[in-house]
Amino acid sequence: MNPTDTSETTPVATRRDFLRTGSAAAAVGAAASVLSVERSAWAAGSDEIKIGLIGCGGRGSGAASQALSTKQEGVKLYAMADAFKDRLDGAHSNIRTKHPEKVDVSEDRQFVGPDGYQKVIEKCDLVILTTPPGFRPYHFKAAVEAGKNIFMEKPVAVDAPGVRVVQEYAKIADEKNLKVVVGLQRRYQNCYIEALKQVKEQDIIGEIVAGQVYWNGGGIWFRDRLPGQTELQYQVQNWYQFTWLCGDHINEQHIHNIDVANWFIGGHPEVAQGMGGRQQRVDKKWGQIYDHHYVEFTYANGVRVNSQCRHQEKTFSPVREEFTGTKGKIYLKNSGQCEAKDHKGNSIWKYRPGGGERPAAGGKRSGDPDPYQTEHDTLQAAIRENKPINNAYYGAESTMTAIMGRMATYSGQELTWDQAINSKVEHMPPIITWESEAPVKPDADGWYPISIPGRNNVPVI
Ligand SMILES: NC(=O)c1ccc[n+]([C@@H]2O[C@H](COP(=O)([O-])OP(=O)(O)OC[C@H]3O[C@@H](n4cnc5c(N)ncnc54)[C@H](O)[C@@H]3O)[C@@H](O)[C@H]2O)c1
Repeated sequence: MNPTDTSETTPVATRRDFLRTGSAAAAVGAAASVLSVERSAWAAGSDEIKIGLIGCGGRGSGAASQALSTKQEGVKLYAMADAFKDRLDGAHSNIRTKHPEKVDVSEDRQFVGPDGYQKVIEKCDLVILTTPPGFRPYHFKAAVEAGKNIFMEKPVAVDAPGVRVVQEYAKIADEKNLKVVVGLQRRYQNCYIEALKQVKEQDIIGEIVAGQVYWNGGGIWFRDRLPGQTELQYQVQNWYQFTWLCGDHINEQHIHNIDVANWFIGGHPEVAQGMGGRQQRVDKKWGQIYDHHYVEFTYANGVRVNSQCRHQEKTFSPVREEFTGTKGKIYLKNSGQCEAKDHKGNSIWKYRPGGGERPAAGGKRSGDPDPYQTEHDTLQAAIRENKPINNAYYGAESTMTAIMGRMATYSGQELTWDQAINSKVEHMPPIITWESEAPVKPDADGWYPISIPGRNNVPVI
């Protein structure tokens, strides 16, 4: 569901009921007798939303700060979990410095280890899921089972079994009237929302027949192995390098642009084929991931989207999307520079940040709200006003599209959507504790399994 699509449904429960249980059953019972009284209580903002943070890294700290920066009263950070104590402590101190009045995470509500998420979910009304993506389906499932509202980062899985868990629990979230926002923030960014209106409502470029999407850049971090770490702890700390935790950068990063393709075209691709490999990423420390992927996605009616993502220093590095229609082309960028041109190259529409105000000199996204903030504003407003919102469906579909692209590049084969979504290849085990075996192991020389296209040397599809 589009975030703007939060049309009011019949209010059925008190805000307190939703915060506590999120359950439609609780809601119905409460509705009939006390609705008008409770409605005014919501307006007074007397109830609290207790927020739980699961995964206290860079994005988790940012998302928690944004959740505490909404205009809503009565929001506090109440419990936190991270695999590692130093990450939890760092995030706690950082968020508390920014929001001293809104952080109330006593020591007995700080949980260290990969299984701390359950305790945070128990104690809170709204949970922020920002661990490495491999864990996401199982944290989402636990939060839905407990009846909690959810903000979860993209991607929402690393393999098809994980995507299917998210799809199944998305439906249950709806049955329980839970609110779910996924961190695909272009869907909350004014320039993209306006561009989509131009395409769908104003027919500015005609029917889309092709597209290109890019996330090319120089690479990502590596975290050194620490003394005394088990193999599993090393991999969790260095999650980006492992398919079972990250899904590779086509899933972790390029999903943003792939999601824009699905959003503008209005569905998922039917077929994919592609190529990829490692050219700069030649050291074994880079685990399993490629440094480039190139995929042709074919949608219904033969609409073809070319997708590129690359982690190679000193190479061409666009991050953007463009679509060709029967009447023209539209160019999209998260800097806000969005423009449509006819086939002769004449500009036919340009996005004006802030509804036409000139951007301040050198300013970024000037005049527009920060989409990372809008995600949390929208989620908390939906909770307080009991408006439906559930981004898990498109989050799952775009995650599956990125995984399908990875299946194509890793295997070197053409595959269909049905093959991809029904794949039984499970990279991420549903339960991980520090006692678990690491799902992949290095060989005697320290190399992890890396897929070689055409060789079928590791399970891919
Ligand atoms: N929407 C965006 O623009 C955006 C930007 C950055 C990151 N992200 C997403 O956010 C997620 C986190 O990325 P990050 O950059 O914050 O990574 P990070 O490494 O900084 O943080 C991840 C944290 O999760 C912790 N963790 C690992 N396993 C855990 C478990 N089982 N339980 C609890 N904690 C666990 C790690 O110790 C770490 O502190 C990823 O899915 C990433 O794709 C989204």
